[in-house]
Amino acid sequence: MKYGYFDDTSREYVITQPDTPLPWINYLGCEEYFGLISNTAGGYSFYRDARLRRLTRYRYNNSPLDMGGRYLYLRDNKSGKYWSPSWMPTRTKLDEYECRHGQGYTIITSKFNGIKSSARYFVPLGESLEIWQMTLTNESGSDSDLSLFSAIEFCLWDANDDATNFQRNYSIGQVEIAPLALERRGAGGEGLTVIYHKTEYRERRDHFAYFACSEKLAGYDTQRESFLGNYQGWDQPQAVESGSSSNSEAHGWQPIGSHHVRVHLKAGEQKQVVFVLGYHENPKDAKFDPPESQIINKQTVKPIIIKYLQPANADEAFNTLRDYWTMLLGKFQVTTPDTDTNRMVNIWNAYQCMVTFNMSRSASYFESGIGRGMGFRDSNQDLLGFVHMIPERARERILDLSATQLKNGGAFHQYQPLTKRGNNDVGSGFNDDPAWLVIGVAAYIKESGDWSILDAPVQYENETGSEAPLYDHLQRSIQYTLDRLGPNNLPLIGRADWNDCLNLNCFSDTPGQSFQTTTAKDGTIAESVFIAGLFILACKEMAGLTRKAKEERGDSFVFHLSSDDYLKFASDMESTVWAAGWDGDWFRRAYDNFGHVLGSKENTEGSIFIEPQGICIMAGLGIENGNAVKALDSVAEHLATPHGIVLQQPAFSQYYLHLGEISSYPPGYKENAGIFCHSNPWIMIAETMVGRGDKAFDYYKRINPSAREGISELHKCEPYVYAQMIAGKDAATHGEAKNSWLTGTAAWNYAAITQYILGIRPSFDGLEIEPVIPADWDGFKVTRKYRDVTYHINVTNPKHVCKGVEKITVNGRLVEGNVIHAEKGAGEVNVEVVMG
Ligand code: GLC
Ligand code: GLC
Repeated sequence: MKYGYFDDTSREYVITQPDTPLPWINYLGCEEYFGLISNTAGGYSFYRDARLRRLTRYRYNNSPLDMGGRYLYLRDNKSGKYWSPSWMPTRTKLDEYECRHGQGYTIITSKFNGIKSSARYFVPLGESLEIWQMTLTNESGSDSDLSLFSAIEFCLWDANDDATNFQRNYSIGQVEIAPLALERRGAGGEGLTVIYHKTEYRERRDHFAYFACSEKLAGYDTQRESFLGNYQGWDQPQAVESGSSSNSEAHGWQPIGSHHVRVHLKAGEQKQVVFVLGYHENPKDAKFDPPESQIINKQTVKPIIIKYLQPANADEAFNTLRDYWTMLLGKFQVTTPDTDTNRMVNIWNAYQCMVTFNMSRSASYFESGIGRGMGFRDSNQDLLGFVHMIPERARERILDLSATQLKNGGAFHQYQPLTKRGNNDVGSGFNDDPAWLVIGVAAYIKESGDWSILDAPVQYENETGSEAPLYDHLQRSIQYTLDRLGPNNLPLIGRADWNDCLNLNCFSDTPGQSFQTTTAKDGTIAESVFIAGLFILACKEMAGLTRKAKEERGDSFVFHLSSDDYLKFASDMESTVWAAGWDGDWFRRAYDNFGHVLGSKENTEGSIFIEPQGICIMAGLGIENGNAVKALDSVAEHLATPHGIVLQQPAFSQYYLHLGEISSYPPGYKENAGIFCHSNPWIMIAETMVGRGDKAFDYYKRINPSAREGISELHKCEPYVYAQMIAGKDAATHGEAKNSWLTGTAAWNYAAITQYILGIRPSFDGLEIEPVIPADWDGFKVTRKYRDVTYHINVTNPKHVCKGVEKITVNGRLVEGNVIHAEKGAGEVNVEVVMG
């Protein structure tokens, strides 16, 4: 069953029924100010850091689901009847309802008793504020007297303290309610009133929040209980019920922002009311006005508020945002015979990649925004799906990440976005981390051709004076693994590798202890075949990078090792994998602290894992000797399900002290044999590497959310974005998704479909073209903007093969090989590719 439909022309998903199986959310903002917004206007906002600069409050794990957000209430003052035009929180049955989620905006339209309302929420580019444009139309046939109420609950900035430290919080809340007009008459804002939230502004904070409305107010509230009533909920606020606000001023307790506007609409009349919620900082020495007072200095914020309260300016900002996304998405557009592929590649998957790039794993409806910083390995992988959109931001991210690298080549596992410093609480010792930096940097250079990044001076451990060229960081990343080999010469696993829950040195028997940061063993025995595969991949990238950098840079650059050195590391590790990591029909997973194998026929549970099959084949292992096909056939036999490929089999039936968190999950969920979607595209890519386009695409479709739209009541999560996990075959709820939005699945699926199945792949030397598609496709067309040139690529498949390029012509001229590299300034280039 479906709860909406894709409107591909508008690039929107349209939800037609408010009670979706879970809140189906969207993100506002793509730079510094962000919001999460559900299809019933739930959610919250923050500035840069979801934990430390939370603007509005949201209660996770609430019941009813998704209570709290950007609420607007309408009240018919003649009958006293009131309702939520976004359905929540009053849940009044609406005559019409529609929610359109687009790129960075959400529009909720509904109709009740003849009053049509449409609320458009978005964050203008370059600003730290959000706009709500509420358009009301009286279609009732008679005149109406309406009250419109807004309501948000302020968060006292640090979301963790806000949810825990009540003995303090209940005394510190402060607001100001102040006129907007500037001193200079006629400059705007006359008669308007703004609610400012300034908790802790009197002491060390230089920032405050504001909530403004384009209309003269009939009243306002800033104290929650005055608005709601002591024991009333958001579904029945006393102010809305009675039709009058109490003009309350919050002193401690729970500061909120609520405006009350009276709207008289004649039959057929329409009116727009604009709300602006934002974040503003003042210089430390200009916080107050007058300076000796405790009153917020509003000189610099007022013009911004005045600007965006005007509908014409809001409209213009909205159009700019739409154009921005047309430009970003225009970097890769495809037409294939498959609609699910087209809309995911052209719109939603790319959009999700931007969101994961911005959020890492911090704030979603499954990530509370207080738990996790930006992950080192996660952020490096997120680049893969994002770098083509805004390479400059990818560059900046790489430099931030590498500045948290340790001198020994290792990495802080996470960093806080606000401070950009490594997070000491989580520490380091996840032995796969450094190799991902190599993968991330390689992806950046392949896309941008910006070799200068290798010279960029970057600190180690965020220490001044420790700067070294980025290239040095990459070398240390490789060295880190070489310095940490175990008894079989495979890389030591440390706290965990990509699989955060395979904790072979943890041995935790204390409830609540972190599996990732507890280590009971010295870590000199447990080894990872996954890291071996990843290391080989990273060495091959280093070899390519070093070769090409030498060509580009000549001897002006210091290379400690040659391209051949890296290839030698790779081939030595490959021999080790064949000796200790191959199980006969598939790659093994690891060796535990006792030196026992895991992911082998010898194991009764956990005898085959997905990750080493994916990564080792991606690193090129087994392509020539046939073992890759063998391993992939084993995946198909043991791990594939109609809903995707599970992480391992058989699932762990009980908790094993020596395996850690992986065995803590009930069978079929998360890393214990769930369909952990992130690793599925590795198998798709591996299938393309052995030339099996049909299989690769089949796996792609199994987890493609658009292709699962028809089973939304089972899938539960949004049909327009990937989820981290779909319950595996051992679970009671096989096929049910969780943890939508913030997952490496976004970037990797984007890479799998665009670079390996469609085969349009940036390389150090140019754009490589190597499609591996379903045999029944006649072909496809791609427009790809790459290093300032627009390539119109037309692929035809007359012989209906999965793989193989017979010839390529560029602007009518036949080219050798399958890498094309137009000159800068070539403008538009036509590429004809004939498969066969
Ligand atoms: C989560 C983590 C990621 C990890 C994966 C597998 O998605 O964010 O870092 O690789 O789980 O455990
Ligand atoms: C939990 C999750 C895993 C995630 C990890 C991050 O173990 O199950 O997916 O990677 O936390 O710390």
